[in-house]
Amino acid sequence: MILSGGAGTRLRPITHTSAKQLVPVANKPILFYGIEALKEAGISQIGIIVGDTEDEIREAVGDGSAWGVSITYIRQEAPLGLAHAVLTAAGFLADTPFVMYLGDNLIKEGIADFVDEFRRKDVDALILLAHVTEPQRFGVAELDGSRIVRLVEKPEQPPSDLALVGAYMFRPSILEASRSITPSWRDELEITDAIQHLIDHGHRVEAHVIDGWWKDTGHLEDLLEANRIVLENIEARCDGSIDADSRVDGRVIVEEGAEVVRSSVRGPAIIGKGTRIIDSYIGPFTSIYYGVTVEGSELEHSIVMENSSIANIPGRIENSLIGKNVEICRCFELPKTFRFVLGDNSRVGLI
Ligand code: TTP
Repeated sequence: MILSGGAGTRLRPITHTSAKQLVPVANKPILFYGIEALKEAGISQIGIIVGDTEDEIREAVGDGSAWGVSITYIRQEAPLGLAHAVLTAAGFLADTPFVMYLGDNLIKEGIADFVDEFRRKDVDALILLAHVTEPQRFGVAELDGSRIVRLVEKPEQPPSDLALVGAYMFRPSILEASRSITPSWRDELEITDAIQHLIDHGHRVEAHVIDGWWKDTGHLEDLLEANRIVLENIEARCDGSIDADSRVDGRVIVEEGAEVVRSSVRGPAIIGKGTRIIDSYIGPFTSIYYGVTVEGSELEHSIVMENSSIANIPGRIENSLIGKNVEICRCFELPKTFRFVLGDNSRVGLI
C-alpha cells in the first residue's frame, strides 16, 4: 500500500494544484521510486491511497503494467491520518500482511531487505528506522534490543536517535489497532498511536534500522537535497543534441529531443525530453523536466517542472522549485516594473 493522498501543505503552492508525489526528482516522479522499491521487494499487488489529486496520479501511473505490477486505486475521503488510510484500505488489504510506504519518501537502499526480514520473522509489525541528528524533528522509537517499546512524536527529550522512516510492515492486527484509537490533537488517526496500541496490547513490534540515506520530501529543502543525492549517481548520456558552441562538463544527461545551444552545462544535471537550453548556464544539481525553455538565463541547484519557460533573467536562479507551465521572464517594455501573477503561498526572492 502506497500513501499518495494527503494535503501537502508544506509544499504549497505546488500542492494547490498538483500531487507532491509526482514532483520529479532527477526527472522521475517521487512516487515512481516507491513503486520500483516495492517491485524490487517482490511485491506486485499495490494499492495506492489517493485524495483530491487522484486523476493526476491515475494518469501518471496507470494500471502498473509499465512496472509489471497491478495497481488498485483507493480513494480516501480526506487526509485524516495514516491510520485512517489503513482503515480506508481495509477491503483491499483483506487478511494479508502488507507494507505501508509513504509516497513522498525516498529510501536509497530500497526495502527488499526490510521486507525479507519481515517474511522471516514472526512479528506483528516491523518498523523502518534510521539514525538522525535531530530526533526532536521526527517520530522517535525507544528500543529494548530489537523490540520497540515506545514511539514518541517530536520529543523534547528523545529516548534515542532512531527516527521512523516512511515504510512499515504490518499484519491485519493493525486494522484492529487503528479502529481502537482516537484522533490526535491535529485531528488525525496517527499510525504511531496505532502501533503503540499494538505494543501496549502485547503484540511484538520490532525495528529494522537502515544505514543509507532516506528523505521525506515534504519540504522544499529536502526535495532539493533528494534531487542532489540522486543526481550524484547518474551516468552521463546524450540522446539529444549539443551544438559546437556549447560546453558540457561532468555528468550530464541530455534526454531525447533536448537541445543545448550556445550554453554551458555543468553536471551533475539532467535536461529533459524536448527541453531547450539556449544562451544559458545550467549549474550542478539541476533537474529540468520535459518541454522547458531556458534562454539567456543561469540556473543552479533547482528543479524545473514540465513546460515552463525562463528567459533573460539577469541574476542566477538557485535553490528553486519551479512548477509546471510557469513563465519567468524579463520584461523590456516600459514602465520598468516587476509584474507577478503568483498563486497563493508562492515565494519569490529578488535581488
Ligand atoms: P505527510 O507528509 O505526513 O502529510 P501531508 O501530505 O498531508 O503533508 P503536509 O504535512 O505538508 O500537509 O504524509 C505522508 C504521505 O502520506 C504523503 O505521501 C501523503 C500521504 N497521506 C495520505 O495518503 N493520507 C493521509 O491521510 C495523510 C495524512 C497522508
